[in-house]
Amino acid sequence: MDNRPIGFLDSGVGGLTVVRELMRQLPHEEIVYIGDSARAPYGPRPAEQIREYTWELVNFLLTKNVKMIVFACNTATAVAWKEVKEKLDIPVLGVILPGSSAAIKSTRNGKIGIIGTPMTINSEVYPEKIKSLSPKMEVSGLACPKFVPIVESNEMGSSVAKKVVYESLAPLVGKVDTLVLGCTHYPLLRPIIQNVMGANVKLIDSGAECIRDVSVLLNYFEINHSRTEHAVDHHFYTTASSQRFKEIAVNWLGTEIDVQHVDLEKLNK
Ligand code: DGL
Repeated sequence: MDNRPIGFLDSGVGGLTVVRELMRQLPHEEIVYIGDSARAPYGPRPAEQIREYTWELVNFLLTKNVKMIVFACNTATAVAWKEVKEKLDIPVLGVILPGSSAAIKSTRNGKIGIIGTPMTINSEVYPEKIKSLSPKMEVSGLACPKFVPIVESNEMGSSVAKKVVYESLAPLVGKVDTLVLGCTHYPLLRPIIQNVMGANVKLIDSGAECIRDVSVLLNYFEINHSRTEHAVDHHFYTTASSQRFKEIAVNWLGTEIDVQHVDLEKLNK
């Protein structure tokens, strides 16, 4: 048993899609979340900068005495997960392996689409992982750089959102039977994405898939929370407006949460 919290990091609000799944599957566990909305999107940034920012988020979570860190961000997973995992002595999980395995499990015709940020797509990390597990798969990647700004500004219900998703996904429509939402922000646009791709296309939520791995590791290392009652004490932090973060979070999670602002200078220390 280990009653310390689990740390989650993302460039902004996207990791909330992973947190919702944790709250559903492992309701006893406590969460410390840091979202770097002041510097989102990470996806178009150079790898070195994403690496530096990711380490700042990791170090912030370590000051909160976490027992495990979940990279609730595909972009940070693509760039920095391996090196962070090798340096820390607590388990560090990413979202790319679980998303890849779930896509292989889901596809019937072997044609898998991946949508993600420019960094995630250009890094080729998904096709590499999928082909290393199952070499016959055909994987088509597509960067959708306009999606994250729509989600960060809480405009998922706008007509602009519909137009952008429709135009961005056009190259993949009719080409795949499984589509990996390879950015944790994208499940917030899921109804529009499903509508554009068609009801027969299976959407894979990489973040939600990774909670199964969290559960396996908690059991394996015997570090589950020992809670017997349900009063959990989650802590959410953002580098941008706590109000904006809270609006999106409360709507998405369906529960009241407390959100605190962290100055970037404090994060750098
Ligand atoms: N949510 C992130 C991901 O899964 C990154 C979005 C961004 O900041 O570009 O890739």
